[in-house]
Amino acid sequence: MSDRSGFNIIAVDGGAATGKSSTSRAIAERLNLMHVDTGAHYRTLTFALLDAGADPEAPDVIPTVLKSLKLDTTIKGRSALLSINGDVPADADIRSPQVNANVSKFAAIESVREFLFNYQRSQAQVARDQAEFSGLIMEGRDIGSIIFPSADFRFFLFADEATRAARRAKDGQTDSIAERDKLDSQRKAAPLVCPEGAIRVDTGPLPLEGVVEHICGIITA
Ligand code: C5P
Repeated sequence: MSDRSGFNIIAVDGGAATGKSSTSRAIAERLNLMHVDTGAHYRTLTFALLDAGADPEAPDVIPTVLKSLKLDTTIKGRSALLSINGDVPADADIRSPQVNANVSKFAAIESVREFLFNYQRSQAQVARDQAEFSGLIMEGRDIGSIIFPSADFRFFLFADEATRAARRAKDGQTDSIAERDKLDSQRKAAPLVCPEGAIRVDTGPLPLEGVVEHICGIITA
């Protein structure tokens, strides 16, 4: 997988509010990795599609709308952010109730996933091109199964329902995580699964530092 000696690709998958983002960010910090949140990619694209008047219930017109959107990367600290037509929308915009309600519907559409596939894979080269990073950590739903099936390390995070609901409430977000997980797990295109051979990590009983310690221990062993 690596063409720079010691350059690791780490895939982190899991359902909503299982701790993927906080964990991946902290690991990126510890191990000097470029961090990519593909949930933010789907959210940014959903925001742009809604803005362009697209409707997830009318998928036939989406390929035409997608043609007008140009994807690029902006690096901010250790995070590589998706820009669309030169714009990285504010966090509040991509985490709004409207985006929360539509993101899994757009993410289930084949043309939307195809649109992001090459872009997401290309982030490995973006990370390699930045000499300061010693690898890439990418989080999402299909990273270890579809985007980087031969990643150096693949983790699957999970947690009990009550812990996940409490985490979302703490974030102050209006979000039906159970509904999103159902749509994400049942869709035909790249469903949320624990990739075969991935290391399962239960984030319910452990504090964030404990999860980070556990995963970093495996990577650096
Ligand atoms: O990670 P986050 O909860 O922000 O992801 C938002 C939504 O984006 C998910 O519920 C899912 O529908 C979609 N997604 C996806 N594939 C990924 C990452 C996110 O379908 N790799």
